[in-house]
Amino acid sequence: MDAIECITTRRSIRKFKPEAVPQELLKKVITAAQKSPSYKNSQPWEAVIVSGKKKDDLTQILAGLLESDAKPEPDIPEPPVWPAAIAQRIDDTFKTKGGKMGIDLNDPVIKKKAKLANFRFYGAPHGIFVFQDRSLAEWSMFDAGLFCQNIMLAAWASGLGTVPQAFLIDYSPAIRNFLGIPATKKLVLGLSIGYPELDHPANSFITGRENTDAILRFVE
Ligand SMILES: Cc1cc2nc3c(=O)[nH]c(=O)nc-3n(C[C@H](O)[C@H](O)[C@H](O)COP(=O)(O)O)c2cc1C
Repeated sequence: MDAIECITTRRSIRKFKPEAVPQELLKKVITAAQKSPSYKNSQPWEAVIVSGKKKDDLTQILAGLLESDAKPEPDIPEPPVWPAAIAQRIDDTFKTKGGKMGIDLNDPVIKKKAKLANFRFYGAPHGIFVFQDRSLAEWSMFDAGLFCQNIMLAAWASGLGTVPQAFLIDYSPAIRNFLGIPATKKLVLGLSIGYPELDHPANSFITGRENTDAILRFVE
């Protein structure tokens, strides 16, 4: 698989086979992602991979917080508003996806179910939590994003599926506490990783993209 094929065929995976991924393969993916460029080669990223009973215990904690309507405290807050054109894009994706699934993705009951599925790592055998020092500036968040993207691409090229999940850091203090991550660090993203069930309907929705001409201009 060449780079273009890897980038264009990767998609978010929300149904996984239960089999664990060998630790060497998970490490290979992370080692590849460490080759991501970063501001002054600062490499402002760290990761924890949680599996097995520990992952199940974490799911229990997060599901309990959700069930008790605990207020989310993500280390990176959810954007309160979006510019109109972007809000429209999000709405279009939700409507198309919800339409295919026969549900309203904005319905609060559906939203809660969706969060629970996130907290269950969509059935994946492993969860990856990416974090970085809280004192770092904006460029380091950019770098962490590159690291996350390369985790996803290295995984895809290795026959693994992933899904990046902002929801997975909803209860950041509880997660940091459970994983032994000091409060001086902030959680950037959670990702589920495992062998994808490619033919499952949960993985059949392919998201669209804006026409390139709408986001690109050549100036010459
Ligand atoms: C920063 C970030 C946060 C995301 N959070 C979630 C999430 O909490 N749950 C989820 O199911 N998908 C989440 N996604 C996945 C997006 O919905 C997905 O990337 C987007 O719809 C495009 O689809 P694709 O990944 O299949 O190309 C997130 C993606 C990113 C980059």
